[in-house]
Amino acid sequence: MKFSRASDRMAVDTSTLWGVHDKASALQAAGEDIILFSIGDPDLPTLDFIVDHAVASLKAGRTHYSPGAGEVELRQAIADIETGASGKVTNIDQIVVHPGGTNAIYTTLSCFLNEGDDIVIPSPMYVGYQGLLGAIGANVINVPLDTANNFTLDVEAVKAAFTDNTRVLFINTPGNPGGNMISEKQLRELAAFCLEHEAWIICDEVYSMITFGQRHISLLNAAETLENVVVVDALSKSHAMTGWRMGWTVSSADTARRILDFGSGTVFGCCQFVQDAAAFALNNDEEYTRAIADEYRVRRNYALERINDIPDLSANTPEAGMFIMMNVEQVEPDGLAFAAGLLEHGGVSVLPGEAFGELSRHFVRLSLTHPVHIMSKAFDRIERYIESL
Ligand SMILES: Cc1ncc(COP(=O)(O)O)c(C=O)c1O
Repeated sequence: MKFSRASDRMAVDTSTLWGVHDKASALQAAGEDIILFSIGDPDLPTLDFIVDHAVASLKAGRTHYSPGAGEVELRQAIADIETGASGKVTNIDQIVVHPGGTNAIYTTLSCFLNEGDDIVIPSPMYVGYQGLLGAIGANVINVPLDTANNFTLDVEAVKAAFTDNTRVLFINTPGNPGGNMISEKQLRELAAFCLEHEAWIICDEVYSMITFGQRHISLLNAAETLENVVVVDALSKSHAMTGWRMGWTVSSADTARRILDFGSGTVFGCCQFVQDAAAFALNNDEEYTRAIADEYRVRRNYALERINDIPDLSANTPEAGMFIMMNVEQVEPDGLAFAAGLLEHGGVSVLPGEAFGELSRHFVRLSLTHPVHIMSKAFDRIERYIESL
């Protein structure tokens, strides 16, 4: 029997890049003392007040179909947040709720791209995009970020990468894996350039609430018009709610209707009780999200201190997010070999930078998903492993 081209494209063997993480997880499950730095799932639990609200909602019978665009209360909470953050009034008819950021991105890309269309994406890029782009069959044109300079974006390089066939520019700020932030001026310039070229600009902002100093600037703020703009956000990271699958898109009302048509046809609405809890979280979370960002900043600072103390290692200084890219080139030019050796001899699991693209091959990514006392133990092991080489 034959499978579709989309299925063929999705059947990618990721075992090499995820091999270290998979092996580490198996060893940990078997009782070995392994420290996992290789996955971006917050160690912090979802707060009790959010869980309690979901339970109350379940008990109140909120277990039925929900409108395709999402529950009004949740869309209003999102619209209020976006209005507060961008200073531009956002209405609920601009919001569509999706089961997670990943699905929000897939639905949006599906509305704009045909098989074979060009999409421009800065690289290194979040590893999860590859599957979505494979499903759609888009032709990816990667534009290098400056990995030696905190993964900064070169707007002129993005412009130069456009072809007559480019339908979408897809950016991510704050970025994963680099923790870089794109400035308001750059966002405005890119949005205007895309409009001129009749291209969409989609901005993945799922780390918008985890910033360490300067405030996140949304593409919604920066763009002169929303005619060609979609912003994606989610609760997964900012609220330690990865398993709840809750994300959304913000766009013009016209674009939202098209995203809604696709989303309704393929997902048919999100869980009512999850949406109730999400709305409650967004309406009551200010202190909590600040505390989460502060905790990640403490961890980032600690990791940088330790990395800078180890000869032959260096790292970027992320301005946001949950990750640090550790440059291991002086120790071992291939991040995959470094990661495999560190797991075998040090019991610490990190993700090879190659997972995010060729350009970050000499890096490994560390997730800031452990408190400092565990990070301390992990860095002692990293130090010992490097000394042993
Ligand atoms: C940049 C980026 N976008 C999207 C996602 C996926 O978010 P979700 O878990 O809400 O699908 C992730 C998850 O790691 C991410 O890092």
